[in-house]
Amino acid sequence: MNVAVIGVGHVGLVTAATMAKIGHNVIGFDIDESKVESLRNGIVPFHEPGLQELLTAGMDSGSIRVTTDAADALSDVDVVFICVGTPRREDGSPNLTYVQSAAAMVSTHATRPTVVVEKSTVPVQTGERIRQALTLQAQSRGQSLTHDVVSNPEFLKEGTAVEDTLYPDRIVVGADSAAAHEVMRRLYEPQLAAHDCPYVATDVKTAELIKHASNAFLATKISFINAVARICEATGADVETVADAMGHDGRIGRSFLNAGLGYGGSCFPKDVEAFIHIASDLGYDFGLLRETERINREAKRWPIGQLRRMLWNIGDKTIAILGVAFKPHTDDIRDAPALDVIDALVAEGTTVRLHDPVALPHVADRWGRAVVLCDSAEEAIRGAHAVVTCTEWPEYEKLTPAQLAEWLEFPVVVDARKVWDPEALAAEGLNVASVGRQLLG
Ligand code: UGA
Repeated sequence: MNVAVIGVGHVGLVTAATMAKIGHNVIGFDIDESKVESLRNGIVPFHEPGLQELLTAGMDSGSIRVTTDAADALSDVDVVFICVGTPRREDGSPNLTYVQSAAAMVSTHATRPTVVVEKSTVPVQTGERIRQALTLQAQSRGQSLTHDVVSNPEFLKEGTAVEDTLYPDRIVVGADSAAAHEVMRRLYEPQLAAHDCPYVATDVKTAELIKHASNAFLATKISFINAVARICEATGADVETVADAMGHDGRIGRSFLNAGLGYGGSCFPKDVEAFIHIASDLGYDFGLLRETERINREAKRWPIGQLRRMLWNIGDKTIAILGVAFKPHTDDIRDAPALDVIDALVAEGTTVRLHDPVALPHVADRWGRAVVLCDSAEEAIRGAHAVVTCTEWPEYEKLTPAQLAEWLEFPVVVDARKVWDPEALAAEGLNVASVGRQLLG
């Protein structure tokens, strides 16, 4: 089938590359000329394992190309994915201006009836708004609406986005016409044939809600275990064992029960906030999600409290921070919890020595001389009064207690991502605060 993807950011590019991989002819469109230029040269402008290879294969075989020309992108397409950004407004509600512009683009340039698919995360009832926009555009030209509107949310995680998209645990398609459902079935048929997964066919509104409900639930799971972590620290119980044992219950499940520095990234913080707004606009106060947010803010403050407890004044100290990406295997720092930790330290006048294997270029100009960017974890830790883990990059696990003890000026470790075994650190004479465990020191 002929597929167009409007917006080739993280979600759009993964969608385009995987659609090409399963056999469709794909054209990606973006208004950002430099991004399109970079893609034309075969370069993925962000870090996502496996995507570069998929893009190169698609470009070499001619099954994927990119353009800044809307007419070129939308001539003769069966399906158009809208993958544009939905940035948060000042009040936390999502800004849907780009979604509306994408709909207008389809209406102006599509040369035949097509299925318009919302892939961007949007509030429930956005499908109706898109339909309304398409109808008005058509009426202004004296025509009637010929396009279908579909919601097909993505559930990909950064760092495993290609795998999540090629081998999804479910495909959700919301459409209000049998014809649109039929087109979407055909679109996903090669994937369903190769990989057996539930195909949830529903109406547009339900599909839209599935996405926000899923992300809000996962964020709530994380906040729940972070609240339990505080109880574990106060009692000397072990949150890891609590989570493991809870996870054996099939009704609960182990995943997303990792206590730590709280959730960040471009999705959970924005989507939880948006869902609270959407609910409120519909007359429902989603207090549970406001509490999820409060616990997440508290989780991000946890390292500062531990540093104060162990070091007393922190403004005159040097602190090593390991990791700034919002999670490992990505260079994305959007809403990364580490940023809150570093901001708080910088506000105190603390000297920060920061290492991250891939994300440092994104913070190069952020704090000026207050934060020293280091090429290795060792360089960050040597001479620091304490080390704080903010992202659980696998390479940090390889650092031994003896190395930490030797490099640190004061023997103080704040392990906000449970990278190391606290007992082993304590045995080396280090004072340890490890999230959700007895505080040793
Ligand atoms: C998230 C969802 O997991 C995807 O299903 C969804 O498609 C995506 O948002 C989206 O809406 O586009 P992502 O933001 O890439 O994916 O990252 P996650 O792996 O979900 O992690 C989010 C944050 O939660 C990270 O900061 C991570 O460190 C934190 N987290 C995750 C925890 O603190 N504990 C956990 O147990 C799991």
